[in-house]
Amino acid sequence: MLSVVVKAGLRTLTLDAPAGGGFVVTETPDGDVYERPVVNIEGQKVALGPNRRDLVPLYHRWENDYSTRRTDDPSEARPVTEDEAFNQYDEWVKSGTERTIQFTIYEVGSWRPIGVTILRDLDWHSRNAVFGIMIGVGDCRGKGYGTEATRLTLDQAFTVMGLHTVLLDALAFNPAGLRAYQKAGFREIGRWREAALMNGRRWDVVFMDCLASEFKSPVLANVYVPDTAAGAMPEG
Ligand SMILES: CC(C)(COP(=O)(O)OP(=O)(O)OC[C@H]1O[C@@H](n2cnc3c(N)ncnc32)[C@H](O)[C@@H]1OP(=O)(O)O)[C@@H](O)C(=O)NCCC(=O)NCCS
Repeated sequence: MLSVVVKAGLRTLTLDAPAGGGFVVTETPDGDVYERPVVNIEGQKVALGPNRRDLVPLYHRWENDYSTRRTDDPSEARPVTEDEAFNQYDEWVKSGTERTIQFTIYEVGSWRPIGVTILRDLDWHSRNAVFGIMIGVGDCRGKGYGTEATRLTLDQAFTVMGLHTVLLDALAFNPAGLRAYQKAGFREIGRWREAALMNGRRWDVVFMDCLASEFKSPVLANVYVPDTAAGAMPEG
């Protein structure tokens, strides 16, 4: 039996693998080694998988990083205890996915967890939701990961869940976000003028939306294919 030490987020695990393999591990340039995680949607640069309890200390670290919160929700940033982070995670697991879908973003290849995306305020009657994203690992920003993670989350929203439209809000001083969302399929629909506060200055909140009819599935259109077209009916 081969033993491999695996660093998953902030945890170090020792795994026993049967001769010939059984799991895939990859070493990153900084020496961290990650097991290939469970993923739902795999793109070219990033993949989305379920959130994990063993990664809560990592989500907690990102949530407390004010340089990351700066472009997200700066005036709501505060010290969050690890106990709160675990409680939030456990509450979310207990309440199910009726109102919120969350993904962990992984870098394809190294399989390190680098951020999270969310579809929240799910309205199943009108079939809409609100999108959010955070790339928590600083050196993973500006590499196209946010754009692709946004696109893959929209694939979940439209191709899997059959939503009609997805909304987001972003701060006007976050051009990387605005550009990434635009490239992923969102377009600006309006501004809430001077609604945000950062370091004593007021900023517009930009609203963007994406309709299912405007979105081209990057991955799941090749997965969600019928075995036969017989009996197919248009959505009513
Ligand atoms: C916002 C965020 C999700 C964007 O993801 P990302 O991986 O950094 O973005 P991408 O690399 O996919 O795309 C960024 C685009 O913005 C452009 N950009 C970056 N900085 C810019 C600037 N100052 N001005 C104009 N464009 C800029 C990039 O050139 C790129 O566009 P291009 O591919 O056409 O060249 C990510 O930076 C992040 O999570 N930041 C911290 C938290 C946050 O802001 N969350 C979102 C709250 S709404």
